[in-house]
Amino acid sequence: MVHKVKGAIVRSKNAPVTLETILVPDPGPGEALVDVLTCGVCHTDLHYKQGAINDDFPFLLGHEATGVVSAVGPDVTAVAPGDRVVLNWRAVCGECRACRRGEPQYCFNTHNATQKMTLEDGTELTAALGIGAFAEKTLVAAGQCTKVDPDADPAAIGLLGCGVMAGLGAAINTGNVGRGDSVAVIGCGGVGVAAVAGAALAGATTVIAVDIDAKKLERAKELGATHTVDSSAVDPVEAIRELTGGFGADVVIDAVGRPETYKQAFYARDLAGTVVLVGVPSPEMTLELPLLDVFGRGGSLKSSWYGDCLPSRDFPMLIDLYRQGRLDLDAFVTERITIDQIEEAFEKMHAGSVLRSVVEL
Ligand SMILES: NC(=O)c1ccc[n+]([C@@H]2O[C@H](COP(=O)([O-])OP(=O)(O)OC[C@H]3O[C@@H](n4cnc5c(N)ncnc54)[C@H](O)[C@@H]3O)[C@@H](O)[C@H]2O)c1
Ligand SMILES: [Zn+2]
Ligand SMILES: [Zn+2]
Repeated sequence: MVHKVKGAIVRSKNAPVTLETILVPDPGPGEALVDVLTCGVCHTDLHYKQGAINDDFPFLLGHEATGVVSAVGPDVTAVAPGDRVVLNWRAVCGECRACRRGEPQYCFNTHNATQKMTLEDGTELTAALGIGAFAEKTLVAAGQCTKVDPDADPAAIGLLGCGVMAGLGAAINTGNVGRGDSVAVIGCGGVGVAAVAGAALAGATTVIAVDIDAKKLERAKELGATHTVDSSAVDPVEAIRELTGGFGADVVIDAVGRPETYKQAFYARDLAGTVVLVGVPSPEMTLELPLLDVFGRGGSLKSSWYGDCLPSRDFPMLIDLYRQGRLDLDAFVTERITIDQIEEAFEKMHAGSVLRSVVEL
């Protein structure tokens, strides 16, 4: 059976998001059909709309979602109809060279649904990050469903499906932040503020939030920043050095992903420190750095794909911390909106007035 539901589509580069009828097939082998409950609006959805990810239009947007499994393919045993799940874009294969060497968080061959969702005329849709959850139903690989406790607020925990996990993981997993570390986070949207929260959770004693928008800095303070730097007014490299005894931070996280913010991160880091790039650059961006500085400053330059998370390990652990009051996921849900308000949510994201707008379906 094919399910006809409403979905949020972008047909071509920078075209407005339109609500269209889409066709979602019943799950085949390895697949799960999910009734979407909530889906956050992530900057990556905007990158898709702008053609900055790839040209495989039309896109079905949305990828930070909580849902309920409504049907599974014949061979699926890990989840069953009725299960509450957070969708992930890292359904590990277990067989690629990363998985085989015991590093499934880097899996190079993650699974998505095999069957395509389509428009009514049969045009195949590209689901954002293999999820496409700005729709009443979506079809994913069963491994993209991480079973979670049904009691937690779906809007809050669904954010672990992308941006909040990416930020938390950039600090905890990729940056390996530890007790007593100093950490600076450049860009305090949903991802960056999550990195601030992750650094605090990991025991960093100095957590410096940097943004060009004062409103974002206020939120970062609420989620664990010990200091804030408005980089529209002051040089963030100097400010971070001043706040760290003149040396720079042990870990600097770039949650914007532009050459200028990367350079700030590079120079605001102490010798032998770590830079983590979690913001996603666009294809035309290039970076020039003196190679001698790359060598001479030592340490490591890392990129963080999805916070190097393993959903089956990290989502339930973070939901436990949320339920214990140690991780304030509610603070990321700035507003709850309907599926016809995604364009407005992009505008608010651009204007800096939200951490996350969450669509309730
Ligand atoms: N690596 C991953 O797996 C992953 C996952 C999700 C999102 N992302 C990426 O992370 C980035 C942030 O996503 P988001 O949802 O938090 O976006 P957002 O738009 O909510 O936040 C971006 C923040 O950066 C600030 N900013 C912009 N330019 C700046 C500058 N020059 N200096 C300092 N701050 C600046 C903005 O004021 C805003 O607060 C995006 O590039 C997104 O695509 C990466
Ligand atoms: Zn793999
Ligand atoms: Zn995202």
